[in-house]
Formats: sequence, structure tokens, C-alpha cells
Amino acid sequence: MTLAARMSRISVSQTMAVAESALRLRENGVDVVDFGPGEPDFPTPQNIKQAAIRAIESNFSKYTSVGGITDLKKAIAEKHSRDFGSRYSVPECIVNVGGKHAIFNVFSAVVNEGDDVIIPTPYWVTFADVARYVGANPVFVHTNESDGFRLTADMLARSLTPKTRLLVVNSPNNPSGAVLDDDEFVKIARLCRDRDIYLLSDECYDHFLYDGRKPFSIGSQQDLMSHIIIAGSLSKTYAMTGWRIGYILATAEIVSGANKLQSHSTSNPASISQKAALEALTGPQESVGEMLAEYGRRRKFVIERLRAIPGIRCSEPGGAFYAYPNISSAFQRGIKDTLEFSVKLLERKYVAVVPGEAFGTKEHVRLSYATSMEQLDKGLNRIAEFMNELG
Ligand SMILES: Cc1ncc(COP(=O)(O)O)c(C=O)c1O
Repeated sequence: MTLAARMSRISVSQTMAVAESALRLRENGVDVVDFGPGEPDFPTPQNIKQAAIRAIESNFSKYTSVGGITDLKKAIAEKHSRDFGSRYSVPECIVNVGGKHAIFNVFSAVVNEGDDVIIPTPYWVTFADVARYVGANPVFVHTNESDGFRLTADMLARSLTPKTRLLVVNSPNNPSGAVLDDDEFVKIARLCRDRDIYLLSDECYDHFLYDGRKPFSIGSQQDLMSHIIIAGSLSKTYAMTGWRIGYILATAEIVSGANKLQSHSTSNPASISQKAALEALTGPQESVGEMLAEYGRRRKFVIERLRAIPGIRCSEPGGAFYAYPNISSAFQRGIKDTLEFSVKLLERKYVAVVPGEAFGTKEHVRLSYATSMEQLDKGLNRIAEFMNELG
């Protein structure tokens, strides 16, 4: 017996592969500095945990509506409106089992086999694999490092084909930290509407912007709503990765498509997590600002230290919690590619980073700075030694 053909179109996330090797070393007692995980190192805020405990104690532990409780959908729509000036209503919202699930549902609901899906590089691995899984062709649009990896409407216009069905934008971006210029984002969305293409905006890092920059959502553009799909997540904003709550904001038609699929797959997201999410969105927001301030401090530290290492270049990440340095100078010094760089760095110096090949570029590695200053300091010292000792 063999697996279904669709399984051969996808592979296990390469970001997970590095984490596995780091884990094995750690199990053997090695002091690994792990810059791999794309996950906050903060605990879930206390008020959110308490809301979950109250939900358990009041036996809020049955099935809920497939697409989530109405109060939570309302809270998502209202918070999005407060933060970004959008105007979504309850039928235009569905709660999913994390942002990844939201993205999977969107692709399933709107993309046909044989369609082209435009994905700017560097990209988060899941976009390409989910496109392949639904039988579509990922079309990669290369953005320029010299321009901070930002997509422009001109780049998009040059990449469109008659088969293009969906564009995926992730700003702030994983892995590069790139943040689209707001006006350019609107131009891109207009082009999508004019060419009858859906724009999926992954807002997973929507609140992690630096240097005082204000968060922006393309969902605020009323005249473009017919073509815009928002995929959001509470995982990073509220340090809730394990609780698994994400959402889609889109036309009622797309939301009901996602609801239909969800009714046969996961059903509702965990009832306890939904109550926790409701508290996250409607309760005190101070913790978000505190986490952002700490990420901001780390970002400055990491970028300065990386730039001080001979042979490393690093563009300024405007958001998220990743640095995406160019390490291609190592290719003249015995290293073949970014995968070999990452493997050797782990073997020789016990530092885990993610090779850029996993994100569709050939000269970079991703470092997550969602880890303590002490770990950052130690890991960056080791990277400097590694670069110094290359042939
Ligand atoms: C760009 C991006 N989108 C979506 C997600 C999904 O997160 P979750 O499924 O935990 O909500 C992630 C997680 O790493 C991400 O980096």
C-alpha cells in the first residue's frame, strides 16, 4: 500500500527538522542555544489563564458552534475594528484551530486545482506546501534584500498569469521581518481586485512593529473587501501558541465555505481556549505592549551584534521577531549552502538557526529573537567564533 498522491506534494516543515536535531543534542546534555523556534518565550498572561480556569470550573466543556462562539467572533471583529478601522460583522468571521488552520481553510475554500498562487519570497514554508496540497502551483515572486524584502505592486503585476487565483502577503513577515509600506499594500490590493484575484493577508505578527510604527490592516479598505481575506492568530500576540486559536475575516461566502469544511474536520476550536481568547481580546492589553518593548530591545541588540560580525550583512526587520542575515560570504570559505551552514553551526558551536532554503532564498538564515538576552548574547558570540574559524 502507498500513501495518497497528495501526500507526495508536501514535506515536513524544514523549520521543524532543525528543531529536531537541536532537541536530540539537548537530550544528550549539550548546551544548545536555540534560535529556531518561532514562538514567544513569555508565558500566557495571567488574566487569560484565569479565564480558561473559570471556563473549566463552570463546565464550559461541550461542543460549541463549529465556527466558534458568537461572543468570540464579535470580539475578534470589534478588536480588528478598534485596531485597524475595519468593519467586519459576525457572519464574516470564523474561529479556527490556530492561524495555520485558518490558512488551510482559506486555501481549501477558494483555490482550485491548477490555479496559480503567488507567494513572495522569502515566505513562510506553510504557504507553499498548502498550495501544493490543494493541487495549485506556487508561483514565487522574488523580493529584493536591498529593498528590505518588500513586495511592490509592480513586482506583482509582472508575475500575474491568467491562472492566478490568490496572492499571499505576510506583513510583518516571517522570516524576514519585512513590513510592507501601507500605501504600496493598498496598491497591491487594488491590483488584486482589478484582476479578480484574492489577497490573503496573514496578520499573525500584526502587533509586532518597531520604531513606533502603527499597525495596519488591508482589511481596513472598504472598497476592496470583496477580494480580501484576513488570516489572524492569537498565538504570538498573546503568547498563546499552544492554545490553538486563529481566525478568518472575509466575505460571508468564504467564511461559510470554511465553516462547511471545518464542520467535517476539526469542528469547533477547543471550548476552553475560546473563553481564554475572549479574555485575551477584551481584557487588559498591557502585556502585549510589554512583550513588544522587550522584543524591541532584543531586536536592536541582535541586529547590532550581527552587523558587527565580519562577513554577515543584515537588513533591518521592521516587525515580527526574526532576523534574516545574509551569510553568503561563508560560501567562499568551505560552506556549500545555508543548510550546510546551519548543520555545521549546530555541530561545531551548538547554535540552532533555520536555513534560508526553507523560506525560498539561498543566502540567509533565520534567527528568532524570541529568547532571553542571555541566550542571545551567548549564541551571537558563538556565531562570531564560527564565522571567524571558517577557512
Ligand atoms: C507567518 C505565520 N503565519 C501563521 C502562523 C500560524 O501560527 P498558529 O497556527 O500558531 O496560529 C505562523 C506561525 O509560526 C507564522 O509564522
